[in-house]
Parts: sequence; C-alpha cells; structure tokens
Amino acid sequence: MTSIKDKILQRFLEAGGEPISGQQLADELLVSRTAIWKHMKALQQDGYTFDTVKKKGYRLLAKSNKLDEVQIATHLTTARYGHKIHHYDEVDSTQIVAHELIRSGTADGTVVIAETQTAGRGRMQRPWDSAQGRGVWMTIIIRPNILPHQAPQFTLVTAVALIHAMREVCQNFTPSIKWPNDILINGKKCAGILTEMVAEADRIQALLIGTGINVNQEQGDFPEELHHIATSMAIEESEKIDRALFVAKYLGYLEQFSDIYVKEGFAPIKTLWEEASSTIGKHVRATTLREVIEGEAIGITEVGVLEIRTATGEIKSVYSADIEV
Ligand code: BTN
Repeated sequence: MTSIKDKILQRFLEAGGEPISGQQLADELLVSRTAIWKHMKALQQDGYTFDTVKKKGYRLLAKSNKLDEVQIATHLTTARYGHKIHHYDEVDSTQIVAHELIRSGTADGTVVIAETQTAGRGRMQRPWDSAQGRGVWMTIIIRPNILPHQAPQFTLVTAVALIHAMREVCQNFTPSIKWPNDILINGKKCAGILTEMVAEADRIQALLIGTGINVNQEQGDFPEELHHIATSMAIEESEKIDRALFVAKYLGYLEQFSDIYVKEGFAPIKTLWEEASSTIGKHVRATTLREVIEGEAIGITEVGVLEIRTATGEIKSVYSADIEV
C-alpha cells in the first residue's frame, strides 16, 4: 500500500514542475491540510526541494538524490520486478535483509536497496565497499521455476541485463562481461554480481541477485590502490547518471531475460552473453578452490561453464573461479 507521503511525491513528479496547492492535495488524498504540511516537511528532510508560488501552492524544484521507490516507479515498465521496493538509508547488507524477507514469504521481484551498506559483501565473502548515495547496492528476490543446479546461470543472465541497461543509459562507453560476475568498462571493474539461493534439494525457493554497481563515484572516491582496477559509470560517461532511471532499466531487462531463460533455456542468453564478453579469446589464469588453470578462454558451454584450453591442448571446465586476464 503506497503511503500518503509517497502519493504526494508521485503527484509532484507527475506535475513536472507545476505548482499544486495544499488544499488540492488534501482534497485528493482525503487528509487534512496539517497532514499534508507534515508530509511536505518529511519530503524536504528526504532531500526534495520545494518553493511556494503565491496563491498556487508548492512547486517541486529539485528531486532528492535518494533511490526511493517512487522515483524508480516513475520509470518502471515491468510486470513484476520492482513492484515492491524496500529502500533504506543504511543496512548491514541488502543480501542479509533479503534473506530475512524471504523467510516472511515476500513476492517474486521484490527489491531491497540501500544508500549505503556497513557490511556489504562480494563473492567468497570479500568485503564490498558501498559508498553513500553513489552506487546501486541492491538485491532482487526472484522465484523462478528452475532447479538448484541452474542457479549459477542467473549470474550470467544478470550480467547480460546489466550490460543492456548500461548501454541504454550511457553512450560514451562499451561495457563488457568478465566471466562469471564482473562488469568491466575499459578494463576496470564497474559492477559485480552475487547470486545466492534458498533451496531444498530439488527445488529453488528463491534466488537473491545482489548487484553492486559503481554509478556516480568520482575518481577521488576510490582509494588510491583501486584507481587502476575500479571505475564508475559516471567517470566513464563523463556525466552524472540518474540512478533511479538506471535501476528501472536494469529491472526491465532482468525481468525480460529471466523470463526468456525460464521459457527457452540458456541458449538465447548464451548468444547475448558471448556478444558482450571480454573473457573469450583471452589468455586467462583461473584460480579455483583446487587448482590454478592457465590458458586460452575458448568459450562457455551450453550451461554457462567456462572452458579453458591449456598449453598442452587439454580443455578444462571451470565452474567457479577468480579470473585474471
Ligand atoms: C562481487 O563482485 O564479488 C559481487 C559484489 C556484490 C555486491 C552487492 S552490493 C548489494 C548486495 N549486498 C551485498 O552485501 N552484496 C551485494
């Protein structure tokens, strides 16, 4: 159920800078003028700026920089994904919050998003830096009808969705996928994907697709030692990015490609993945839990497993690894 505050915000976003009177809002939303005034104060505290136009009412001057549900909803075109968004100023990790929500039976496509995380984590339990208000730190809970062994393929589905969303919102760079879960721009990491699942032996209850995307950081926001390996969309585009618009596009592509995957299998996703990959054809060093494999990355299999041809000509399959190119 949308709150009165969200409904007021929605009205201002739709009004496109035109003034709306407090009385008009009160009449439309069936609440008192005092209640409207309190919600207006709360919106200002959230970072929205208004002025008052004599005899006409309030006018929205500037949007908040926060990734709130209403701003994302104005751009959303999905049937399911992002229809319920839990937005926080700060959480430990959106993955942890998502696990709690799954226990209470949340719907397919529910999103947990935070302005910052105090215990964000990446693959292999590595810490993930989540700069305040600069990136997109979010987990989407989905409930596809697939088997547990198919879950890793969703990392590749997600990578393809991220690439398409980046291409649509930015024109000045070409993002690429480094197997299995990194999005690179000009060779530097811009986003990472962490796919987790809640499952029984033969059935997935839910997938938690965590994505950390460096969106509006400037060079100086990254520690010196990361300058040569990390970047943001804004750095590469030379322009600040509308995070709400980007999230809505990403959710749109994720829903589209997830549905294709569930209906048609991995083959159509594989084609899109290969077209955007920067791993295939390269000499790589893959560090798995058991061994280090060096050789040419020759492709991914029909289920998304990376294949490497070693110096002896042997072809090795890699299911999970850290890749150095
Ligand atoms: C990686 O590259 O290792 C994956 C990074 C995933 C980070 C995201 S940020 C949102 C979600 N919450 C977390 O704690 N991790 C994921």
